[in-house]
Amino acid sequence: MSRPPRVNYDQIAHLYDSQPYRSRAVDREFLSFLRERGMDRPPTALDIACGTGNQLVANRAAAPGLIAFGVDRSLGMLRQAAAKTEEIGWLQADSAALPFAAGSFDFAGCQYAFHHFRDKAGMLREAYRVLRPGGRFVLRNLCPQHSEDWLYYRYFPEAFIVDLLDFWPPDAIAAIMEGAGFAAVEVKLEHLRFDVDFAEWLEIVRRRRDTCSQLQAISDEAYAAGIRRLEAEVAGATAPVARADHLCMATIRGDKPTGI
Ligand SMILES: C[S@@+](CC[C@H](N)C(=O)[O-])C[C@H]1O[C@@H](n2cnc3c(N)ncnc32)[C@H](O)[C@@H]1O
Repeated sequence: MSRPPRVNYDQIAHLYDSQPYRSRAVDREFLSFLRERGMDRPPTALDIACGTGNQLVANRAAAPGLIAFGVDRSLGMLRQAAAKTEEIGWLQADSAALPFAAGSFDFAGCQYAFHHFRDKAGMLREAYRVLRPGGRFVLRNLCPQHSEDWLYYRYFPEAFIVDLLDFWPPDAIAAIMEGAGFAAVEVKLEHLRFDVDFAEWLEIVRRRRDTCSQLQAISDEAYAAGIRRLEAEVAGATAPVARADHLCMATIRGDKPTGI
């Protein structure tokens, strides 16, 4: 039996940008691609599952003249994106059926969305199809396979189980990309280590709907159990103020070969 979507993004679109950890930074992979290729015409870029458009807005500010399109399944998220700029094309589409001709883009990115896709292999094939020969696709996401000690998984262990189903291991994604035709496929793992103020974190996870999809993908019982445990620890004299946390991020990139 198929599970419902992890999140209904139309319902939370207006809250999405309010979390302080949402990145608004330019994509370093995009900048290094531009530096490597040194194009003599305006580059074209696509963000697959662009959400509220933060990544493309930042990339376009760093690369004036960039011809950019964002696609997302959620109209609510696209409306938030469209309110930021009209200079980027925002289109509603499924990631496995991109509304572009083959060979349309120099660069395609997909951040923090792959775990939501039903047809993951179809999305990777579509990313390949819409790239120009010599173009690059970069996928970035959390890697639960190397994040078992992440605080979210320690306090909401059901989320770890669900995520192992929804997030493919990076090497499996790389293998499917190679099968789709990508060359020079590379996987980079980045281990982020940081301290979390426990009381602040409790307030964040109380905002279940717009914190992260891990809290929405689990049962109400599992969520309530985690909150109870956290509340007890924060209230108890033994609760440490800061807790060490760890999260692994995966970046997987591949190029469409030239001469095809
Ligand atoms: C966590 S958000 C990430 C948004 C954005 N990439 C970012 O980094 O802020 C996941 C996005 O994936 C979109 N999404 C989920 N399934 C999709 C699909 N099959 N096709 C296109 N977009 C999809 C959702 O609507 C949502 O905007």
